[in-house]
Amino acid sequence: MQTTNSDLFSALSARIPGGVNSPFRAFQAVGGTPPVLVRGRGARVWDVEGNEYLDFCCAWGPLMLGHSHPELVAAGHQALEDGSVFGASTPWELEFVEAITAAYPSMEKVRLVNSGAEAVASALRVARGATGKPRIVKFEGCYHGHVECLDSVGLEAEELGGPLALGASPGSAAETLIAHFNDLDSARRILEKHSREVAALIVEPIPGSMAVTRPEPEFLSGLRGLCDEFQVLLIFDEVLSGCRVARGGAQELFGVRPDLTCLGKALAGGMPVGAYGGRSELMDQVAPLGKVYQAGTFCGNPLTVRCGTANLRLLAQPGVYAKLAAETDFLVDSLAGLDQDLQMVAYPGMFGLYFAPRPVSSHKDLEQVDLERYRTFYHRLLRRGIYLPPSSLDAAGLSLAHTRQDLERFVRAVGEGLS
Ligand SMILES: Cc1ncc(COP(=O)(O)O)c(C=O)c1O
Repeated sequence: MQTTNSDLFSALSARIPGGVNSPFRAFQAVGGTPPVLVRGRGARVWDVEGNEYLDFCCAWGPLMLGHSHPELVAAGHQALEDGSVFGASTPWELEFVEAITAAYPSMEKVRLVNSGAEAVASALRVARGATGKPRIVKFEGCYHGHVECLDSVGLEAEELGGPLALGASPGSAAETLIAHFNDLDSARRILEKHSREVAALIVEPIPGSMAVTRPEPEFLSGLRGLCDEFQVLLIFDEVLSGCRVARGGAQELFGVRPDLTCLGKALAGGMPVGAYGGRSELMDQVAPLGKVYQAGTFCGNPLTVRCGTANLRLLAQPGVYAKLAAETDFLVDSLAGLDQDLQMVAYPGMFGLYFAPRPVSSHKDLEQVDLERYRTFYHRLLRRGIYLPPSSLDAAGLSLAHTRQDLERFVRAVGEGLS
């Protein structure tokens, strides 16, 4: 067996495209060879060479409790003992969806799936089925996972060299209309012209793939108003923000109630998961009650669900989000003033760290983000044992396993990485 990161990554690359099962892991945005990870515990991960890192990637979102939390390990172990998948109803699904609906009152009924992308694709299908309308409005710069009509057009396609992602169905471009985040007028203009064909408007309430962008005051409530005015469904993609910025996600934080919500990542503490839900009359369109088909062998499997319930129980304890908020505030305060171009935009449990003259508030601002400087900075931090997402524009994570000492170490490393 190969024992260096570089040997192992070469061997992986011989059998897996780019050596990775999801593109950003390949380090193309920061250059160099990615560490090949073998173990995670609490806030730390180790690579195959035995190097230890403080983990601020948190698997791109899921790990609110850090790695291998004992209660999740026990729940997962018990699920493996009792049977990890039945393809039938189980009592554990009830516990899990009740924990979800308690935190997300807008989700009167929920379907469990296996990933965020699956949740988004399913929610779009419900929206089209319920309204009888074909088109979707998305916001440039919001990421919704590998969902054909959303990741094949706009910026994401342009980054790969075309108006439509290679291999995507040409129909997907026709289905999707693109508005601008933090620009209500852009959404209004589209709806004024096309609302009779638009089933839903989907938005990441706190975009986490354009460097963590704050929604301007009244933007999300303004979208709610527009959707009501034009009779279009409002979908919040809270796959990243859900259970992270607050137990009830951005909808709790901003007090805006979407028609449909998509969750994933932090819902099950590191097990593969997705969930979508909304008002009962919308969700009752889903088969077998209704004619909107959606199914999956592993949907609601006991392994995910039992870990997920343990995760949500721990996240529901008093003081959890106040602690996360205090820790992110500590980071923001400690990094303030270190470098005039270092931007840190934080919510409890997630933050963006990048170089730009001012915080990003729309996808147009991305042009000002200094990606080159982040590459150097990234590797300086990696050498100091700090593992951030290998992309300047993706949200970093903070978990309950990070201690104040861990954060102080991070702040020191950032200071050294800047010079
Ligand atoms: C906001 C958002 N939606 C959807 C997804 C897709 O989730 P998954 O990767 O679990 O399919 C992601 C993943 O990064 C995301 O950040």
